[in-house]
Amino acid sequence: MEEASFDSRTCPNPNCQCGTRCSCGTQCTCGYRTIDPAKEFIIAAIEEMRVWVILMSEHAKFIRMGLDPNPLQEEFFRMADQFAVQLEQLHHTILQTSYNSSSQILIQLREQTIHKVNQLIRFKKQLLELTQQCQALAILPDILEDHIRREADRFVGTLERSKGHMTKSRKQLGIPNGEVMASTVPRFLYHRLSKEELYKVAIEEILFFSQVNSEHAHHLSMTFRPGVQEKYRQTALMFQEDFAGQLAQAEEVNQAGTGIENLLRNSYKLSSSFDQYLRGLLSEITTCTIPTKQTNFPPLLADHMHRETVYYMDILDRLKR
Ligand SMILES: [Fe+2]
Ligand SMILES: [Fe+2]
Repeated sequence: MEEASFDSRTCPNPNCQCGTRCSCGTQCTCGYRTIDPAKEFIIAAIEEMRVWVILMSEHAKFIRMGLDPNPLQEEFFRMADQFAVQLEQLHHTILQTSYNSSSQILIQLREQTIHKVNQLIRFKKQLLELTQQCQALAILPDILEDHIRREADRFVGTLERSKGHMTKSRKQLGIPNGEVMASTVPRFLYHRLSKEELYKVAIEEILFFSQVNSEHAHHLSMTFRPGVQEKYRQTALMFQEDFAGQLAQAEEVNQAGTGIENLLRNSYKLSSSFDQYLRGLLSEITTCTIPTKQTNFPPLLADHMHRETVYYMDILDRLKR
């Protein structure tokens, strides 16, 4: 999939119902407005940025909140704070920028995002090393620090892929067969892929997000208040196991070469019930109706996980088509 091989006869609108090859003009024959074909790749990148830049800002906020506030760590605190503020501003600019803006403006925004998130990746890696060596003090579990670094790597991977480059190995994303390069195709470009390419994307995304969701559930299970929030903890543990099972199922499907449709359906079903759980939890936390009125994790974390789950469900939905 190269930018240069773009075929202007293909309707670039992922919602287009009139087939993968049609002469849409400015209005798709099935009624959906089409995206300017020349801009399709950069718009696919912007769609990823709309979701992920704010999540990156929140990662920086979680780091900021998780650092021990001893005077020696003021510099780390300021760095995390700067990332949070700058990424939030960048997200605001992205939301304010129309798709009708010149390609040059959109491309500049993509480059600015890659640059900033690469800096954040380096910061996350450095912090993980220092906490592992006990040279930095925090209440951030190693697995969480690595989790947010993998999400950032995957995100930059999608932006680089929108330029035609495959830059991330499966190892960097924490999925099996580490030496293989990961596809990281932005979800708005799936309709450009061959059946084989789409299959690889499906397996990789299910492996990645099953791992990520299993870790989300694990983290929640560790941070509910002992005794008083036991039933919430038990449900989180159940989801942790279910997502781990999904990961194993994805590996089996990949080895057998059959059963992808079933896997996609099951993954969607599980993610949907996890999302329901997260939304219910968020509602109880924000209305202070959860036992003891609070949890030992910030409400924004439940909301953050909810948005990542919705994003994954959108991917599954597009892969099922
Ligand atoms: Fe995240
Ligand atoms: Fe996450």
